[in-house]
Amino acid sequence: MKKTIKDYELNGKKVIIRCDFNVPIENGIIKDETRIKASLKTIRYARKMNAKVILLSHLGRIKKEEDKQKYTLKPVAEKLSKLLRKKVTFIDQTKGEKLETAINNMKNKDVILLENTRFEDLDNKKESNNDKKLGEYWASLGDIFINDAFGTIHRKHASNLGIASNLPNGLGFLVENEIKKLTKLIDKPKKPYTIILGGSKVSDKIGVISNLIDKVDYMLICGGMAFTFLKAAGFGIGSSICEKEKLNYCQELLDKNESKIILPIDIITSIQINENVKTNERFLGEIKEDEIGLDIGPKTLEVFKQYIVDSKTIFLNGPAGYFELKPFQNGTKNLLNIIADTNAYTVLGGGDTARAAFSFNVQDKISHISTGGGASLAFLEGKTLPALEIINEK
Ligand code: 3PG
Repeated sequence: MKKTIKDYELNGKKVIIRCDFNVPIENGIIKDETRIKASLKTIRYARKMNAKVILLSHLGRIKKEEDKQKYTLKPVAEKLSKLLRKKVTFIDQTKGEKLETAINNMKNKDVILLENTRFEDLDNKKESNNDKKLGEYWASLGDIFINDAFGTIHRKHASNLGIASNLPNGLGFLVENEIKKLTKLIDKPKKPYTIILGGSKVSDKIGVISNLIDKVDYMLICGGMAFTFLKAAGFGIGSSICEKEKLNYCQELLDKNESKIILPIDIITSIQINENVKTNERFLGEIKEDEIGLDIGPKTLEVFKQYIVDSKTIFLNGPAGYFELKPFQNGTKNLLNIIADTNAYTVLGGGDTARAAFSFNVQDKISHISTGGGASLAFLEGKTLPALEIINEK
């Protein structure tokens, strides 16, 4: 068992908490607060225990100087101040005198948020390449390190692995909860167990498919990735997305798991991808050469529903179609509602899937919505998660 924040005496201690505040921000406005809200439990606990709280997070990917303006964490500090009803001091530095002075002047229960850790990537990718000195420097700012960023638990970065290598450490409540909830999908899941995979690429899901195919009863395939499977099964897919180099893989998988893998039987197509296009419902074999498949059709939903309503464990990763555009949102919306209406243990993973759940307002009827995209897949793939491995055992 890994140590958690509860295993440490925090009174008067400088506690560095690595959060995942990688949230969509447009013109300084935060478009989705879920990850920020999910981090509050750990921050509140540290304050209640009289700690001096130092928060670190990445935001986006920083490749050039101009990216800094777009990816500053300042709006997050403002949002956090409101949510905590306590001023969160934002330091527009990732290192340096101003930061060090602010930390030295902290009182118990104060909260400081540093600037985006990935600003350090402009200097030889120091954050993302886990630069030893950078990890040591950040660790020198505190007494205890708590990793509460599940979204980057599969990464080897200076702000998670680097700091943890240099300080007594533990997990925050968010990460602890993610592990508990996701473990139920791989450790004796209640049967029947159905996983539904969507999203555009088969290649993103190969690890999960390989690790879970023998554990699940049914694997329903939708989203853009369904077209590679459909082509491998011998159907025409018109101009739909297809990963040619994965056709053999899909073919073999279908051959071995004929009754387990369920593919769409009708598709919503269009010749363009925009809000006002004419759409067509096509059965397999009817898709025209210039048509792009952009959603699953109503008959597919009926078939999927039969498997879903009988299941006791359901995991969905990836949208069923191009749900950002109204003509192609029915598949994802109805699928989420079917899942939400079951009494099964239901888990959603991946940023797009979580966003869809919130935009179709089913979030309260889902057992667990993971805050991790790549991280939840890596966990289910059974991969070693470096920033989790490094955490001290009890
Ligand atoms: C995520 O959004 O999945 C996490 O914040 C990780 O982000 P990254 O893929 O840029 O490391």
